[in-house]
Order: sequence, then C-alpha cells, then structure tokens
Amino acid sequence: MSYAEIYQRSLSDPDGFWSEAATLIDWYQAPETALDDSAAPMYRWFGDGRLNTCYNALDRHADGGRADQLALVYDSPVTDTVRTYTFAELRDEVAKVAGALRDLGVGTGDRVIVYMPMIAEAAMAMLACARLGAIHSVVFGGFAANELATRIDDAKPKVIMSASCGIEPGRIVEYKPLLDKAIDLAEHKPDEVLMLQRPQAEAQMQEGRDHDWVATVTAAHPADCVSVAATDPLYILYTSGTTGVPKGIVRDNGGHAVALAWSMKNIYDVDPGQVYWAASDVGWIVGHSYIVYAPLIHGCTTVLYEGKPVGTPDPGAFWRVIEQHGVSVLFTAPTAFRAIKRDDPDANHLARYDTSSLRALFLAGERCDPDTLHWAEEKLGVPVIDHWWQTESGWPMISSPMGIEQMPIKAGSPSVPVPGYDVRVLDDDGSECAPGDIGAIVVKLPLPPGCLPTLWNADDRYREAYLERFPGHYLSGDAGFKDDDGYVSIMSRIDDIINVAGHRLSTGAMEEVIADHPDVAECAVIGVADQLKGQLPVGFVVLNAGADRKPDEVVSELVAMMRDRIGPVAAFKQAAVVDRLPKTRSGKILRGTMRSIADRNEWKMPATIDDPAILDEIEGALEGMGFG
Ligand code: COA
Ligand code: AMP
Repeated sequence: MSYAEIYQRSLSDPDGFWSEAATLIDWYQAPETALDDSAAPMYRWFGDGRLNTCYNALDRHADGGRADQLALVYDSPVTDTVRTYTFAELRDEVAKVAGALRDLGVGTGDRVIVYMPMIAEAAMAMLACARLGAIHSVVFGGFAANELATRIDDAKPKVIMSASCGIEPGRIVEYKPLLDKAIDLAEHKPDEVLMLQRPQAEAQMQEGRDHDWVATVTAAHPADCVSVAATDPLYILYTSGTTGVPKGIVRDNGGHAVALAWSMKNIYDVDPGQVYWAASDVGWIVGHSYIVYAPLIHGCTTVLYEGKPVGTPDPGAFWRVIEQHGVSVLFTAPTAFRAIKRDDPDANHLARYDTSSLRALFLAGERCDPDTLHWAEEKLGVPVIDHWWQTESGWPMISSPMGIEQMPIKAGSPSVPVPGYDVRVLDDDGSECAPGDIGAIVVKLPLPPGCLPTLWNADDRYREAYLERFPGHYLSGDAGFKDDDGYVSIMSRIDDIINVAGHRLSTGAMEEVIADHPDVAECAVIGVADQLKGQLPVGFVVLNAGADRKPDEVVSELVAMMRDRIGPVAAFKQAAVVDRLPKTRSGKILRGTMRSIADRNEWKMPATIDDPAILDEIEGALEGMGFG
C-alpha cells in the first residue's frame, strides 16, 4: 500500500490500525480495545492490555532465537573501550541489576532517577526499572546539581542510580559531588544511591545510603519481568518548559512499545538483526527511544557511543563506528554533521573507512539547514532524512516513511505527517492556514500511541500547556507551514524554547537565573543563530541603579551562575550590559526584534516600541559580541 493509503487508514480507523500494530508486541494479556476516548481529551491506548517492556526488549529475543545476536555495542573512544553484549548476556545482566534494585526496596510504580554518562550500565539501569515496573527518570549528565534537585523533588525517587564520572573531551566530570549537592538541595531525599565506580574518578561513598554497584549487583538474584498495565508509566523524562520548572513528560508502557516497534520498519526501514545507531545521549528523548527501547524491541543491535562526532579523536569518528560495527542506519542531530563538515569539509576522513553498510542517515532535534543536508547526501551517497518530533511525542511525527514509501526529499522540510498524526497548521483564530502560510503546528486529537498521556502529577498543566490553546488539538509549540503537496516545514518555536546543539533549553529558565544576580535589575535572553550549534543563548542585562560594577565582571559572574545552576549544556557564554531593554509601551520586552537584529533578518520597527533609540544600543552590543 502507498503512504497516502496507509496514512488515510491510520486516521479513519485508528482503532483497527493500532490494534494490528499491537501484534508486534508480546503481551501477557493482549488488549481487546485500542483507543479509550471515555475521558477525552485525555486519551489512553490499550487500556486492558498487560505487558512488560523489558521482556519485549530482551527476553523475547534472548529466548526466541536471538540469544547469541549482539543486542548492545558499547563503543567508547574516550576510554578506548568496545564492549559487546548479546541478547542473552544483556538480559542476564539486566535481570541482576533489577534484582539489586529490588533488594534496595524498589517495586512497581516506584520512581528511580538515573544520572549516568553514556555507558552500557545506563541502558541496563533503564531496562532494569522497566523489568520491575518501576518508573525511571533519566537526567542528562550536562545538567547542574540544581536542575537535578528540581527533578528529584518532582519525581520523588526511592533510589538514584549513578556513576562516579562522565568523560568529556579534555575533562572528567565528577558526578558524585553534583549528586550529593543535588540531594542536599532537594527537599525529597532518596533512600538509597546505587553508584558505579569508574576508574577515572572514584566517588566518595556515604555510609548507609550509597551502595557500590558491582558489589550489590553481584550479590543480587536475578529478577523476573513484572506484568504491568499498558497504561502504567514506564518513565518520566523532564524537558524544558517556558519557566524554570521543567515538564515531566510521562510515557506509558503499552502505547510506547507498540509505536516504537511500528516505527522501526515503517519509518527507519530496518529489520531485526541489523545494526541501528542513534548518536545521541540516553538523557534525551532520542536516546530513550532510539538508543535503548526501539532497536531492542525490534531485535536490532544498538550502538551506545560515548564520544563526540569530532575530537574523539578526529572527524572520522562516525565513519569508524559505522565500519567497525556494520551500522545500517544512523540517526543524529544536524549539529553533529555541521561539526564534522567544519573540521573536514572535503570529508577526507571518510575515504579511510568502508561505510558501505550504511543505508540511510536520519536527522532530527533541530532544523536541518539545506547545506548540511546536501553535504551529507553528497558525501555519504545515501538518503538523508530530516524528520521532526519532540520529547512529548516520543517518536517521529513528520518524516519520509522509508519502510512504506520514500517520499521525494525537499531540503528544508522533514516531509510528510507520519501515519497516526493528523498534523495541521492553524492561524490565531484556529482556522487552517492556506498552503505556504505560517501558523501553529498542531496535531488533531487523539495523538497516536506512544505520545505523552499527561505530565507527571500535573494533569492541569498538561491541559493548559498543550490542549487549551486550540481545543481538540495538541499544540506542538512549533510554527511552520504546509506546501501544496502536504510537506510541512518547521520554522521556529512559538515560545521561548531554543535549540542549542540539538539540546532543548528554555531562555525563560536562563532569565530566572540572571534575575537572581544581586546587581541585575532586568534581563532578556534570546537565541541567536549560530553556524555550528544552530542557536546560542545571548543575554542582555540592565544593572540596578547605583550598582557600580564593571560590565565584564558581571558577565563572568552570570556565565558562572548559569553553569552552576543550569549546567554546561546551556552553553551560555555571552551577555552584554545595556542601559535599557527595548520594550513596547505596555512594557513587553521586544525579544523578537532583538533576535531579528542579531540574525540579520529583515525587521520592521515595532509600532508599539517605547523608545526606538534603544535598538541602536542593542545593535552595538550585538556587534561587540560578534553578532548582528
Ligand atoms: N556531561 C557533562 N557535560 C556535558 C555533557 C555531559 N553529558 N554533554 C555536554 N557537556 C558539556 C560540554 O563538555 C560543553 O562544556 P564546555 O562548555 O566546558 O565546553 C557544554 O556541555 C556544551 O556542550 P555541547 O553544546 O554539546 O558542545 P560541545 O562543544 O561540547 O560539542 C557538538 C558540540 C556539536 C560536537 C556536540 O553538541 C554534539 O556532538 N552534538 C551531537 C548532537 C546530539 O547529541 N544531540 C542530542 C539530541 S539528538
Ligand atoms: P526535543 O523535545 O528536545 O526533542 O526538542 C523538540 C524540538 O526540537 C521541536 O519542538 C522542534 O522545535 C525542534 N526540532 C526537532 N526536530 C526538528 C526538525 N527536524 N526540524 C526542525 N525543528 C526540529
């Protein structure tokens, strides 16, 4: 069947469509109904089904003919290690880790925070939680103690799983002091910490609370898979919202497993037994869905890579991994390819490797500029598929469905809506925009399986943030347009989220940090276009009257505060002290105008501006920082 036929069926008969897809999963109790709309607009999928996600990812393959096939390849250029696990080995190891968690008191429905670098044990930690029906919440290693504390207070974990350090090129990031500080800051205290000691930095253990990973796991008896309801949460993943309080995206077990299993063949066109590599981090949604769960559920070998696209040791790193492990499909963020292209524009390193196993490259996480897309197409000689999705959806919403039909590529557009997603572009009044006109990108409800059913302990915030702006529709937070062929282009966010090196960050959260500086009267942070990272945050601050401070000193303090409070991943390195911020007469800061000046876009003097002369100062400040 063609894409158009399958897409139409997914919308006209979602129940039948997803009931069929549900057969890709092993159930303890197969669901009799797919969609439950009894509490609309809060929809649920497979309400009467029971399953275990870890069973689907590991046991059914280990016991079903893939015992000796590689499930996971841990490739770490920063420690010069490659370690492989077959499905049988990974299942046995995960069962022991689950046994250790059970010994520490973790049961179904308990929360476990995973604060770990890109090592195989991070995937084991997630799968071990899934095995017990416990709810994991992975926190990215580049976040500071304060961000971790916020998540501890929201998720209220019984146990935190961590490792003594992460390894960034040129420095060891000690996790334990950050973790101890986060637990100090948090009101909620976890009962236990399970700590993996890495040789690069030994963690100081706290008697009674901290347990050595290896000793505890070695002493544990393997735990079996626990049957959970399809609608029980599998994990919470926090993502940036418009304030400093992140949103706890909830993922359920059943819809998630079905959607991911379906996506592997239909979107990525990979078969069980093939090698799938998502070069991301388990702390992000791409890592959850396409490093850990989807490839394993589908019976693929997944690659977990502890390294960077460049510098570990050179811009040939990706090609080396593709050759060494026979990667069929690679998924990463455009910024990784921009980094490779910057360091090796002629792709000389590519010639050193045999990358003939590679059949397609998928890019997501930020807008893919046509230059990068064409460069990758030309150098790799395989289809390069830009596709669009979010932490909230958990799997692609707009993509060329490669396993169904390869749509002609139009650079700048991630192509067409994925079956299950009724994507529309709406104007301010909620009417559909004409082709070419930019509006809010929404999905008509119900969302397909796998998407967030709600926010952790915050149904009202879920409704308010996503469902209320256009009743009957999910608000994605992105703006864009459709063309005459139904291709969608994503142009910008409609809120204050920015995308830095594929990492989603909130400028509102950064403004909250700056506002805490004792000498700052007011501030604005905007995302400015950057050739490598897509966007970079830039701050503008007005000092309190009478604050007799050198601007450079204040800026250094703000940079340090941001690193300390949000983390190095915020990449906040530039700010300017100005006399005033440009505002409307009603006092609203004109961030959009500042952004346009910084990005050298055409802009019009806003009719409502309070004092146009202020923009000259902003322009000068931007020029001083190398922008505008
Ligand atoms: N733990 C601790 N610190 C981390 C970290 C982690 N897991 N990940 C990143 N950081 C730090 C970096 O070391 C850097 O610190 P610095 O300011 O001291 O240099 C800072 O956070 C910013 O990191 P990043 O924005 O990633 O920049 P970079 O210069 O280190 O690397 C790229 C740039 C493009 C090579 C890198 O962003 C990359 O590989 N991106 C791939 C895309 C990706 O993984 N996207 C995720 C979603 S798909
Ligand atoms: P995250 O939740 O971290 O995956 O970030 C999701 C956001 O990244 C989306 O809402 C978009 O703003 C942006 N994004 C992701 N993929 C794309 C893409 N292919 N093109 C443009 N923007 C994208």
